This record gives sequence, structure tokens and C-alpha cells, in this order.
Amino acid sequence: MKVFHDIVSYSAWRTSLPSSASVGFVPTMGALHAGHARLLEVSREQNTHTVLSIFVNPTQFGPNEDLSKYPRTLESDLKIAEAEGVAAVFVPTESMLYPDGYSTFVTEEKLSLPLCGVFRPGHFRGVATIVLKLFNIIEADHAYFGLKDAQQFFVIQKMARDLNVRIKLTGVETVREASGLALSSRNTYLSKEERTLTAPQFYQILISAKNEFQNGGVIAAVLESARGRLAQAGFQVQYLELRSTPELTDLTAMNILPKEMGAVLAGALFLGKVRLIDNIIW
Ligand code: PAF
Repeated sequence: MKVFHDIVSYSAWRTSLPSSASVGFVPTMGALHAGHARLLEVSREQNTHTVLSIFVNPTQFGPNEDLSKYPRTLESDLKIAEAEGVAAVFVPTESMLYPDGYSTFVTEEKLSLPLCGVFRPGHFRGVATIVLKLFNIIEADHAYFGLKDAQQFFVIQKMARDLNVRIKLTGVETVREASGLALSSRNTYLSKEERTLTAPQFYQILISAKNEFQNGGVIAAVLESARGRLAQAGFQVQYLELRSTPELTDLTAMNILPKEMGAVLAGALFLGKVRLIDNIIW
């Protein structure tokens, strides 16, 4: 496995691959867990070479967010990458990607506005910018994203379509602990009790709300009751919404969800100081 810390040496390696090679790309911010390992596994199954990037992207963090605290675990990340058969790891520095005087950003102006967009202004601008930069550097055929960050995936898909990016994008189903808790690098901030007793109730409440929608429950009422149960369980609810896929239009006004309609039930909650997001797509 090759590890590259600069663009020139990565590009020389990329150019050396035979034209028959297909490159699968998994962009990450490190702190790899079984969810990332699953993305690497899917990429390995579908490509001759898998490239992993590890970069804690400052432009997607707000001023009061956890950039400086974000877990950095390069050594163990590289072990996981090696075990998953990664061909190359790209670990750039901040000044390489955002040198002094950097002034160009990518903004998706529709799907990035609701849900997390309301509470994390500028977040998807940072995500779209870094992802497009990485796409240009890595020169992949396929790229893989976890669907725990469903809105991120839809925003990137839209950005790629709008900007004629010729990379096939795949969203990979969320990996969960046995309790149902979605794997996330931020789970390491939870206490043992929060992680095993409270946090798993997020997914259980999402599932029961999904069943209620599918059994003809009134959308606004189901959402209200789910928000109440989440609050009772000890979460501070930032949002819980039912949206169409992939356009993310608000479905509350529909009253009852039509059977054939694709939807995502997405939420963001605080458990203490830790922000958790999860969703169910159907
Ligand atoms: O999902 C993430 O880890 C990040 O948002 C991404 C896509 C690597 C961009 O920094």
C-alpha cells in the first residue's frame, strides 16, 4: 500500500496505472471505523484499485464546531486501509489544499439548504468544495459515500451532475452497531451509558415512525410524536423531517405519504454535547 502526502507523487502513481485499471475512491476525514471499512470493501469488489483519502477538511466546520477536537488516528487508519486492500492512501496537508490566498468554493444551492444546512451554514459548501478538489486530484472512476450522511450524498450527487463530473457515485448503506446505533467517528465522544442505552433509541424511534408513515399515519402528527419520544429519551432534537429523495423536498404538507413515494426520514439530535445524525431511506 502506498501512502502519498503530496499531489505530485500521487499523480505520478495514478498515471502509472494501466489504462485498464478502474479506480474506486473513498474520501474520509480519518478516524476510520467499520462503516468506512464497508465503503473500502465495496470499492475493492468493484474496482481494480481503491484509493482512500484522509483529510480533516477545515472548510466544512463552523466556528463553534469540533475541528480541533476531531479524532485524528492516522496510524490505526493505515492499518485498517491495509487490511481492506487499499492500493493508495492520500493524506494531504491543509496548506497543500488551501494555500494562502485560496478563494474558490463550490455551492450547491438547493439540496444543501434544509436539514443540516439550516444548522450548519457553510458546511455543504465546504464539503462540495473539498470533494470536487479531491475528485480532480484522485482521478477515480467510482466514488463511495456512506448513507448515514444522506443529505451529503444527495448534495454531492447533485453537484457532480450539475458540474458534469464523470465519476460514478455510489451511496453505501449505513453500518450499525448491534443496538442499531449508526457507526460514526463522533460516537467515541459518548459515555458508555449514552452509547449503549440512550443513543440506540434514535434508530428505534426512526423505524417506528417509518412504520407509522407506511401505515397511513398523518405525516405532521407522526413527526411530532417521534420528536416527543426522542426528547423523552433524553435527546435534544435539532430537527426530524420527512423529505423526498433525491430532491429533499419537505413532505409534511402531503398529509399522508403515497405508497410509491421514495422518502428519507432524517434527524439530527444532541446527546449532551455530542451531535448525532441518522436517517432511514426507503
Ligand atoms: O463524510 C466525510 O467524511 C466528509 O464530509 C468528506 C466527504 C470526506 C469530505 O470532507
